[in-house]
Amino acid sequence: MVHKFSSSVNMIIEKGAVLNNKELIASLGSKALIVTGKSSAVKTGALSDVTKALDSAGIPYEIYPDIEPNPTYSSVLEASEKGIKAGCDFVIGIGGGSPLDAAKAIAAVMKNPGITEEEAFSAIYKNGAYPIVAIGTTAGTGSEVTPYAVITGNDGRKKSMRSPHLLPRVSIGDITYISKMNDTLIKNTALDACCHAFESYFCRMANDFTKTFALRAIKLLIPEFETISSYGTEGLDDEDFENLYLASIYAGYAISVTGTAMCHTLSYYLSENKNIPHGRACALYLPAFILHNIKWAPKESADLYEEILRTDEEIRTLVTDLTGVCDLKLTEEDLDTIRPRLENNASLEKCLGECSPAYAEEILKALFS
Ligand SMILES: [Fe+2]
Repeated sequence: MVHKFSSSVNMIIEKGAVLNNKELIASLGSKALIVTGKSSAVKTGALSDVTKALDSAGIPYEIYPDIEPNPTYSSVLEASEKGIKAGCDFVIGIGGGSPLDAAKAIAAVMKNPGITEEEAFSAIYKNGAYPIVAIGTTAGTGSEVTPYAVITGNDGRKKSMRSPHLLPRVSIGDITYISKMNDTLIKNTALDACCHAFESYFCRMANDFTKTFALRAIKLLIPEFETISSYGTEGLDDEDFENLYLASIYAGYAISVTGTAMCHTLSYYLSENKNIPHGRACALYLPAFILHNIKWAPKESADLYEEILRTDEEIRTLVTDLTGVCDLKLTEEDLDTIRPRLENNASLEKCLGECSPAYAEEILKALFS
């Protein structure tokens, strides 16, 4: 068996990390393009820390504050044009998965003027990408340590760009920001991290490195899920937020090698067309994914549940507690749209055991009809 793992990301988790590491951030270029969503960068105080750090290092910057949830390629282009026009030569993303993924794509598009959408999604970046700094304000995406950027193309579909050029040079997590997430965001992002960990653990491409990261993420998440289930998110303290953030990063390291699998593949239609947030959309499939693995990968399942000292049923109950009941119904028309996406789908083929398009469709029907 081959075991491979590499990471060039300088990952720092500490309170006050942006200001404590201002020279490191400022060393990456001469003018920064700061990329944020519409509110969380301001609400958490992260944007103010970044501008303070750049001001004190004498580094000018432009701000693009309009990244939407499920960021689109047209926003990536708009921000890139702004960055190029302003002469920016590095990109700082602040936020959860959407601004971070967008920042990564923007850094690549800016460095490759004239790149077509097809080339961007195929990760043909002849000139590489400008240096990227990722500042996490949520605990779930793991984008801080992955070579991926999930962007919605002009055809309305979410697609993943994958390239080592998209790896941030510096990534920063500060629970001062993370602890300001609202209740729904805490649950949805934690569920996203949990899906990353499970999908990576039960993946044909998993190796000892990735399984170790995935297992650590799951072990950190379970007690936090139990706390949330019993006391709500008001029951979380600084140590809990640190555990949630660490789990998201460990799970990010795991998927940086394996990628994601069934839950993510089936989730995209729900996010694109039914407005269900990413983490929740993925986690709605997690109980079925766990049962899939018990059926098709009994040894790996037994090993996992013995390690985490919980039964598969306990984990399914915890996940369902966090997702809540979903009364979505998929119509025949929905299924007709989804069906072609399941054919020759590399993410389904990576699952342990057989995960045919017909099997995936059975899961969809069982959940949403
Ligand atoms: Fe995800």
